[in-house]
Amino acid sequence: MISTSHTAIHRKLVFRISLVGFLIALTAGFAVWQFEKEKIDQWILIKAESGFKRLNNSIRHLLNDPGNLNRLEMEKHAATILAQRDFMVTGRYVWIGIYDLKGTTVAQVPDISYEHIEQVETITGSIQPDADRRGNMGISVIKLNQIPHVQIVAPLSNERGELAAYGETIFAIAPKAIAAVETRALRLAAAAMVIVLLTTALLYPVINSLLSRVSRLSAKLFDANLAVLTVLGSAIAKRDSDTDAHNYRVTIISVKLAEELCLAADTIQRLIKGAFLHDVGKIGIEDGILHKPGRLTNEEFAVMQGHVPLGLDIVNKAEWIKEGMDIVAYHHEKYDGRGYNRGLAGKQIPEIARIFAIADVFDALTSHRPYKEPFSFEKTMDILQDGRGGHFDPDYIDAFASISRTLYDTYAGREDEALKSELDAIIKKYFYA
Ligand SMILES: [Fe+2]
Repeated sequence: MISTSHTAIHRKLVFRISLVGFLIALTAGFAVWQFEKEKIDQWILIKAESGFKRLNNSIRHLLNDPGNLNRLEMEKHAATILAQRDFMVTGRYVWIGIYDLKGTTVAQVPDISYEHIEQVETITGSIQPDADRRGNMGISVIKLNQIPHVQIVAPLSNERGELAAYGETIFAIAPKAIAAVETRALRLAAAAMVIVLLTTALLYPVINSLLSRVSRLSAKLFDANLAVLTVLGSAIAKRDSDTDAHNYRVTIISVKLAEELCLAADTIQRLIKGAFLHDVGKIGIEDGILHKPGRLTNEEFAVMQGHVPLGLDIVNKAEWIKEGMDIVAYHHEKYDGRGYNRGLAGKQIPEIARIFAIADVFDALTSHRPYKEPFSFEKTMDILQDGRGGHFDPDYIDAFASISRTLYDTYAGREDEALKSELDAIIKKYFYA
């Protein structure tokens, strides 16, 4: 069933593809950014760690007698490392401390030229006696004035490989280095986003072309379904009264009443299918009874009633027309329960069948039949009012009364081509809109 136009599907497609593309691009960009940031952190730690090993190597020979560490020599070597500012573009050492195995300070050398050295000194010198003897490094990154500082506290070993002292270094990351790697990460994230968006844009014409093909196919399928509906409706009309006009009129009149009752569009779709096919079961009724000019005997009437189950058999064979089964099955039920085929009463009768019953009787009364002339508007409405609460739903009769004059003036007894055009407009409104 086509209830959404191609334009609406196209608009939905553009919106969804754009949204999904944007979300994937955002996710990809964020993932790349996180990955790069992690790489930066790892890189900084590796650099800081290698710097600490460098300190250990340069003073290893001074640690051979852990009980008698030479403060001046230590300070000299530490100062040399602090002076090597350009050996790493990532930053520089700004503070070095050396402690004996009891945690007592042997040497503490700050780089007094460093502008944030005072803040650095607030986080240093807190070595615990008996600190980690397993040789592990304690590494932490502390932000001072928005600049990350890598603090390493770790054991120092002598030339015999023995644990001989503890070292503490503070490595200040160069803001320029951070900016450079951040820019790189941002560029990579942006590149990832552009790639995803471009891929999405490239995929769009392919998806759109496939969608157009599917839309064309489903339009053809819908047209075929509609053709089945009209052919079946027309087939029974030809057997019953030689004209399609009754089907057209009852369908239009039923829809007008349904609109007056503000029924939902999908309910009106079912109503149209059912109204068109309401008497389709008459195909299976023998001519002698179907075309009998006089009154039917009880036996004949019982056979005639069989058009309801016969109609159900027919419409149940195809999913699309099956949606009209409520009218096919219940269009001869009466509000007071005296109808057939099931003897349902009141609201047990589906609403579209209750609507259709009014339209069907209204059309029969206002049309020419071999056994009668069309009734006047007044006589027709008197008969319908008599059936209020008996044959018909009283609320629906009231709603019908408010539009019946216009319906009578517009449709009563009409058989012209314009009737078909009007029905086509209704089908377009409810199935193609
Ligand atoms: Fe019928």
